[in-house]
Amino acid sequence: MREFKDRTAVITGAASGIGLALAQRAAREGMRLVLADIDEAKLAEAAKALPVAADALCTRRVDVSREEDIAALADEAFGRFGGVHLLCNNAGVGLTRLAWELTTADWEWILGVNLWSVVHAIRHFVPRMLAQEGESHIVNTASVAGLLSTPAMAAYNVSKHGVVTLSETLYTELRAQQAKIGVSVLCPAWVPTAIHTSERNRPQRFGEAAPPSAASAAYQERMGQAVKSGRLTADDMANAVFDAVAADRFYVIPHGRIKQAVRLRMEDILEERNPTPL
Ligand SMILES: NC(=O)c1ccc[n+]([C@@H]2O[C@H](COP(=O)([O-])OP(=O)(O)OC[C@H]3O[C@@H](n4cnc5c(N)ncnc54)[C@H](O)[C@@H]3O)[C@@H](O)[C@H]2O)c1
Repeated sequence: MREFKDRTAVITGAASGIGLALAQRAAREGMRLVLADIDEAKLAEAAKALPVAADALCTRRVDVSREEDIAALADEAFGRFGGVHLLCNNAGVGLTRLAWELTTADWEWILGVNLWSVVHAIRHFVPRMLAQEGESHIVNTASVAGLLSTPAMAAYNVSKHGVVTLSETLYTELRAQQAKIGVSVLCPAWVPTAIHTSERNRPQRFGEAAPPSAASAAYQERMGQAVKSGRLTADDMANAVFDAVAADRFYVIPHGRIKQAVRLRMEDILEERNPTPL
């Protein structure tokens, strides 16, 4: 999809980080915006600063892990603007714990926000996008954690591997139908955002995470440092996404050097070697 002006973008997790950068870029492209986030106050504040006319913008509190919230988001976007041309399933959360320390509630929270959100969005947006005129594009934010198995991030890794394979499947199905819907999957490495403080937005129904063991805390500290020192910014991610959408490119892996680790992992699999530690 090359034309963005006067088309409609729906972006989840738009109050912060990569989602906010996507919203800013979409606004600069002259798109109409439907922005969703669980943090209503932060979303409202972020939306105020966007260069977009009031009648071309709507914001909505959404918990993407809840199907009814995604259904209502789709109803609002199609109802308000008559179509959706760019759908960015971007909201995501992480929790750094050794696999055996993650509780069932931790798994449900992370899989709910990172993976079920995309499942819900495909069900509630794609049929209506198929029925509309013209081109559209879906961008799912996964992670290099969808291509690698970083320690102390089991639930996050599983959720992001799920998003990658779901996106690949969706892509091949839409191609087979000759649909005018492109698909891309964004797989960043470390980007300085608020992702390492995801628990700030953990819905009450999942309870609070248990305190980490010393081993998990050490991984958590390392993860926080890696996020903060990420050399590519959220704006770099948004620019990479818009380039990929314009070029109809599926894989978006802006941190080029991480591909060495992905290649090694793929070779381990093909050679049936034991996993090389990351
Ligand atoms: N920052 C990184 O290093 C990095 C790397 C790879 C992938 N990602 C992915 O990028 C995406 C965006 O994360 P970010 O780095 O911008 O982090 P962020 O914490 O800055 O932004 C995430 C946004 O999602 C929102 N959110 C959280 N739970 C939600 C829910 N249940 N419903 C709706 N919104 C919810 C938050 O309020 C926040 O505004 C995520 O999918 C994340 O997994 C981030």
